Amino acid sequence: MSILFDRRAFLLGASTLGASLATPSLLRAATPTVSGDRFVELRPAPTTAQLFGPSYGTTDVWAYGGSVPGPEIRLKAGERVRQRLVNGLPQNTAVHWHGIRIDNAMDGAVGLTQDPVKPGGTFDYDFVAPDPGTYWYHSHDRSWEQVARGLSGPLIVEDIEPWIGLEGAATRELTVALDDWLLRPDAKIEEANFGALPEWAHAGRIGNVFTVNGKIGSELPVRAGERLRLRLLNVSNARIMPIRIEGHNVKLIALDGHPVAPRDASDGVVLTPAQRADIVIDCLSKPGARVPVMLDAGRDQWVDIATLVYSNEQRLPDWESDIRPLPMSMLHALDIDGAQRETLTMEGGAMGSLTRARLNGVDRDIEELVAAKRVWAFNGVAGDLDEPIFRTQRGRTVHLTIRNTTGFPHGIHVHGHHFTILSRNGVTDPHRDRRDTVLTVRDEVVEIAFEADNPGKWLLHCHMLEHQAAGMVAWFEVG
Ligand code: C2O
Ligand code: CU
Repeated sequence: MSILFDRRAFLLGASTLGASLATPSLLRAATPTVSGDRFVELRPAPTTAQLFGPSYGTTDVWAYGGSVPGPEIRLKAGERVRQRLVNGLPQNTAVHWHGIRIDNAMDGAVGLTQDPVKPGGTFDYDFVAPDPGTYWYHSHDRSWEQVARGLSGPLIVEDIEPWIGLEGAATRELTVALDDWLLRPDAKIEEANFGALPEWAHAGRIGNVFTVNGKIGSELPVRAGERLRLRLLNVSNARIMPIRIEGHNVKLIALDGHPVAPRDASDGVVLTPAQRADIVIDCLSKPGARVPVMLDAGRDQWVDIATLVYSNEQRLPDWESDIRPLPMSMLHALDIDGAQRETLTMEGGAMGSLTRARLNGVDRDIEELVAAKRVWAFNGVAGDLDEPIFRTQRGRTVHLTIRNTTGFPHGIHVHGHHFTILSRNGVTDPHRDRRDTVLTVRDEVVEIAFEADNPGKWLLHCHMLEHQAAGMVAWFEVG
């Protein structure tokens, strides 16, 4: 059966496709992969997924372990992840463990920290995950294609002391992987756009269908009176996702894995691609209620992407107390005064002012850059990886001023480190959040700082994956 290519229906399932989605719980059960002393196989391969309800066609995807998103990997902070990548794809690949302050050799950055893994080849990833929090893993080779085809999954590093169940903490938690797919009317992945310059030079691959945990119109079962922790992850290529839950107070408790002092986010929490947000909601609707989870699809056009489905069970007694914060991470104080100062100036893209940039070590004009599909630049270089953008010594604080001189928003990700957001456009950030990916809008100047405590070669790139491929990538070295 083909899908009516009505934009509204497509943008969301829930209202228009509602009837066909009235199936039992569509929530994919988490299949925790506990890493002990042995390696667990992580096999990316072509398969099919039932993104829509059962009366629709399947979608050919590439998936880890046969499912989109891939299997949830769960461990405690300080434990090891041991995963054997076995490449079942028709292309080279590698896995990046996004946000983990990882051993450099395990970072999965093809061309910088490891060679690509050929079809049929294997690579053993073996590393300690030092910090509790919500993380994820994804392909880091042709990621603009491989992530769009489905190659990502959650990586949950549990709190050292169990937090769930403590006075004021949540009573339960759910992982909520948010994705955006560009599909054709027959539910197959739109392949014609892969590598297309217009997409690369504009906002990146923006989809026409939203999934939550790999399903359109997911139903998330809840019970009245629960205090629920939702681990939200944006695993899309390029879509910025403002998320809101109808009629529920939302409290933010962590960003990109880092605990924050609980604060209100009922108006919406914004996740740029690769960002995570842990939120807590009190489920105070009546038994049997159905509550939409909504996403702003652009210009304040909120669409339903999933439903909290209240069971008919009797309401649990309410928590009286304020939300208990997650244990704060112990961090070195940053030496801002003595910091090494660096600048990252972003240029390029459609309607941008980029006229020249360096590519393969040679200064090129815009026609040559367009011909090579390198239409964005960091500090005048369109994605060359032969030289680092800067070098620093271990233990030094790096103060990075990020200037977005383009006409588009960008989410900048730093590998192997967590940074503090100091200011935006000269105004001190009131929260000083710690993150691994930061959103910058056009004409914005964002100052961040981090302790370069992890030796090795680390990528720094835009996580709109088409922008990364088209020049928004660089690296730095910690000696
Ligand atoms: Cu999740 Cu280099 O990225
Ligand atoms: Cu970008």
